[in-house]
Amino acid sequence: MIAININSEASVFDAIVRVNHLLQDTSFDVTERQSIFISVSEIVRNVLNHGGGSGRLYCTLDHQGFRLTCIDEGPGIENLSEILDGNYISGSGLGAGLASVKRLMDELYITTSSEGTRIVAVKRDRRQR
Ligand SMILES: Nc1ncnc2c1ncn2[C@@H]1O[C@H](COP(=O)(O)OP(=O)(O)O)[C@@H](O)[C@H]1O
Ligand SMILES: [Mg+2]
Repeated sequence: MIAININSEASVFDAIVRVNHLLQDTSFDVTERQSIFISVSEIVRNVLNHGGGSGRLYCTLDHQGFRLTCIDEGPGIENLSEILDGNYISGSGLGAGLASVKRLMDELYITTSSEGTRIVAVKRDRRQR
């Protein structure tokens, strides 16, 4: 398992480098790895931009595949269902961060409240599908 402290823009790069290393001996192909990198980068950036600026990212490999868990203690996500449906127009960036993550990963679970946000995303190992 890898654990990453999210606290600055450098955390995005740190996370990608370490996830890349974690994925080294797996059967994920280039496209699947890119999906994971984009998802990691969107989720970590959201913690910096919207989630109070600090949090933790945990990534593991198990029999199912790659699993990330990202936790912050920010203000929580309003209108989550609208965002995941792709109907949310963001004020910045490509504005399709979480909707893209939903599309790129196989599973996405978000628990959010005014106490913080917990995001779990899974990319399944093809050999298990
Ligand atoms: N960790 C988070 N904590 C609080 N709000 C969040 C978090 N992640 C996302 N959000 C909210 O969800 C919205 C949509 O996120 P996203 O799809 O990544 O688009 P963008 O980051 O470009 O606005 C954000 O604008 C923000 O309001
Ligand atoms: Mg975003």
